[in-house]
Amino acid sequence: MPKVTILGAGNVGATAAHLILLKGLADVVLLDIVPGIPRGKALDMLESMPVEGKNVSVKGTDSYADTADSDIVIITAGLPRKPGMSRDELLEKNAAIMKGCVEQVKVTSPKAILIIVSNPLDAMVSVASEVSGFPKRRILGMAGILDTARFKTFIAETLEVSVNQIDALVLGGHGDDMVPLISKTTVAGKPIIQCLSPEEIGRLVQRTRQGGMEIVNHLKTGSAYYAPASSVVAMVDAILRDKKQLLPVAAYCDKEFGVGGYFIGVPAVIGAAGVEDIIEVSLSEEEQQQFEKTKEHVRELVRKVRSLSR
Ligand code: LAC
Repeated sequence: MPKVTILGAGNVGATAAHLILLKGLADVVLLDIVPGIPRGKALDMLESMPVEGKNVSVKGTDSYADTADSDIVIITAGLPRKPGMSRDELLEKNAAIMKGCVEQVKVTSPKAILIIVSNPLDAMVSVASEVSGFPKRRILGMAGILDTARFKTFIAETLEVSVNQIDALVLGGHGDDMVPLISKTTVAGKPIIQCLSPEEIGRLVQRTRQGGMEIVNHLKTGSAYYAPASSVVAMVDAILRDKKQLLPVAAYCDKEFGVGGYFIGVPAVIGAAGVEDIIEVSLSEEEQQQFEKTKEHVRELVRKVRSLSR
C-alpha cells in the first residue's frame, strides 16, 4: 500500500486524509505540531474504516520519523486567510512554515512527490522546490483543479446542466488574476460563448476569481476545505494510479508558455513520476494578455519570497 503523509491536520489536511482513506488509495500519516489533534482525528478516521470496509491505516503524529519514506507528502501547513485578507498577505509567515516542513521532508522522504497546498500557492511551491532541491517534476501545487471546479460549479448552476457536461480549464497563478480559458470552455461540446452572454460569462469569471474569498467571508475564521481537499486527492489519485491525467496544476515551466523558470498553473500530464508533461494549449489574444499579467504577479511574489530568505 502506498504511503501518503499530510503535513497539517487542519481542515484541508484532515478532509484530504479522510477522502484518501475512503477511496482506499493509501495508508495515511497525518502530522501536526499540536500532537493531540492529529492523533485524535486519525483515530476517529480509523474507526470509520470498518463501516467503509476499507483496510487502510492512518496514524496521527507530531514526529517526522513516522512519515519516513512516504510516496507523496502533501503540505497544507500554514495560516489560512481571514475576511479582507489577500492570499499574498500570508507570504512571510507561511514561507517560514513551509521551509521548516520541507527541511524535514527532504531528510525523511527523499523520494517523495510533494503536493503543496499552502498559500500564497505559487510562491509556496517555489519555496518547497528551492528548500528540497528535488527534481522539479516531483513538486506540484494544487490550485488549478480547485479554480476550475469552482468555474464549472457556477456554469452548471447558471445553465442548470450536469457538471459532467462541462469542459473548462483555469490557468495561471492562484490569485485574483487567474485565467479561465473561455475559448476552451464547452457545455456538452458547445462553446460557452454560444450558451451565455459575454456579461454573464464575465460575472462567472469574476465569481471564480473571488471564489476563495466568498467562502472565507462566510466562514469568517478560515478558508475553504472540502473542494480544496477533493482537488488534492484528485492529484494523489492521478499519481498513485499512474493515470497520465491532464490536470491544471502549478508546475515548473521553463520555456513552456514563455514562463521562464518558475511554477505557475498550467495543464500538465500527471502520473507516477509527478508532472510528466506540460501541454501548451493555444490561448486567445485576450487570454494571452491575462496570462502575461498573472505571470508577472507570480514572478513578483517569487521575487519577494526569495528576498525574505536572504
Ligand atoms: C481557496 C484558498 C484555499 O481558494 O486558496 O479557497
